[in-house]
Amino acid sequence: MLAHSGYGTRKEVKQLIRDGYVLVNGEVIVDDDFKVDEINDEIFVDGFQIDYRKHLYVMLNKPKDVVSATYDSRQKTILDLMPEYDYLKLFPIGRLDIDTEGLVLLSNDGDLAHKLLSPKKHVDKEYYVEVKNPLKTSDVIAFTSGITLDDGYKCLSARLEIIDELKAHVIIKEGKFHQIKRMFEALNNEVTYLKRIRMKNLILDPKLDLGEYRELTDEEINDLKGGEL
Ligand code: URA
Repeated sequence: MLAHSGYGTRKEVKQLIRDGYVLVNGEVIVDDDFKVDEINDEIFVDGFQIDYRKHLYVMLNKPKDVVSATYDSRQKTILDLMPEYDYLKLFPIGRLDIDTEGLVLLSNDGDLAHKLLSPKKHVDKEYYVEVKNPLKTSDVIAFTSGITLDDGYKCLSARLEIIDELKAHVIIKEGKFHQIKRMFEALNNEVTYLKRIRMKNLILDPKLDLGEYRELTDEEINDLKGGEL
């Protein structure tokens, strides 16, 4: 928890504890593995009380070959990429396919998850897409009109912004299983690369390499919670 609250690396905070700088509920603790109750315990470091936030919000640039689940018996999960957050019980707010890269928001805020994932809210999800066959102007119209998937489901109106023949941005407001891949299949095309770059007003930080993550800023959290939510 201390490492996570900005007091240094795990090694450094263990030293802080052993040196007697840390008080829990008024008592100095020296056990560097001491477990705290994050919600109820009063924790001071060198005389300053820790302002510990109950909810945590993290953005991850998910690489391929990692599943966006909290547990998987065979595959590496997104939580395996961030072991220091283990105790916080984070979960992904919206999933990506194993071969999709990009923005995954993780949190332990169930309320925000519900609001962002509720089908009624129609939160924008923006993707960068590469496809096998050249894109056509008629594809743009098809996206706007609502593409019918292989199971007969008619998608809500979506946006296809062509970058060049084989590249585009796609903005959808729902999240059906393999939705983008199936939308292009319905147009006799095939997605060869897919990366999520935005969810509502949260933009994937371009400074994050694949597999890297960072906590959201207060501004990003407020923006995500604000608006029509
Ligand atoms: N659409 C897909 O087909 N896959 C994803 O991972 C996300 C959207």
